[in-house]
Amino acid sequence: MIAGGGGRMKEVHSLGELRLARQGLPGPLGFVPTMGYLHAGHLSLVRRAKSECASVAVSIFVNPAQFGPNEDLAAYPVDLPRDQALLEQAAVDLLWVPTADQMYPAGFQTWVTVEELTRPLEGEHRPGHFRGVATIVAKLFNAMHPDRAYFGQKDAQQLAVVRRLAQDLDFPLEVVACPTMREADGLAMSSRNARLNPKERQAASVLYRALSAAQQAHAGGEREAGALRRSMVEILQAEPLSRIQYVSVADPETLAELQGEVRRTLLSMAVFVGKTRLIDNVLLGD
Ligand code: PAJ
Repeated sequence: MIAGGGGRMKEVHSLGELRLARQGLPGPLGFVPTMGYLHAGHLSLVRRAKSECASVAVSIFVNPAQFGPNEDLAAYPVDLPRDQALLEQAAVDLLWVPTADQMYPAGFQTWVTVEELTRPLEGEHRPGHFRGVATIVAKLFNAMHPDRAYFGQKDAQQLAVVRRLAQDLDFPLEVVACPTMREADGLAMSSRNARLNPKERQAASVLYRALSAAQQAHAGGEREAGALRRSMVEILQAEPLSRIQYVSVADPETLAELQGEVRRTLLSMAVFVGKTRLIDNVLLGD
């Protein structure tokens, strides 16, 4: 027998089915939106939701609107049967798998734009990405009506954007932030890690090594933003398979880049390892 397996997970596809199934779920309802190809990071959000809520719903939707024209939508990994089994094992009550036709029917033209928060970092390098994220998250929230929604600190800017959006659009729910799950060598779990070849996979721990170096410098008393930034860049540059897109020392609330002395700060980066773009971050001074 599989521990925790309930075998009672309901799976729905259309909005109509979802609304009906939602009505039958005892509250509070915890919701974990995902793009599938689930790993232990996603499952940690599900477990947290299970521990705090009477019912848990998960969505799997590879949202085309958050991928740029030169990004990896077509190559995004998919394995629905495996995801279904994992969620069933985790005793999830409801799985919603919408289709792109339902979420973006012909004539769709209403978008949610979070302004300042989406300008730097990921927003700067992935134009339109957060418009896609904010729009789908608002649509998922509207359909699901969760009491709590669970998001990973792994995507720190996304978390900030979702918090802002929930507050600004008066969604009556709590956004719950969950810590980043990592592999043994520190690499943050990500569906995209599946694309790394063995050499790249080894090199990919460089993101965490760089963040750890800055964290250690900070623990040793270093408070200068430039010095923290340099300690990360130095480690990243020593890895021949990696190419830096950005390295940031930013205010954790506004995401504005910091100069001079820092107190609480978000260290974050986007780094290509081979052709695969990886992101990671840590919060300092919390
Ligand atoms: P996806 O990348 O599938 O991630 C779903 C959720 O899992 C996000 O909240 C993400 O931050 C969290 N997550 C991913 N890797 C994690 C890790 N290693 N540790 C902890 N949590 C982790 O993020 C998205 O999908 C989409 O943008 C979505 C919000 C579903 C909107 O389309």
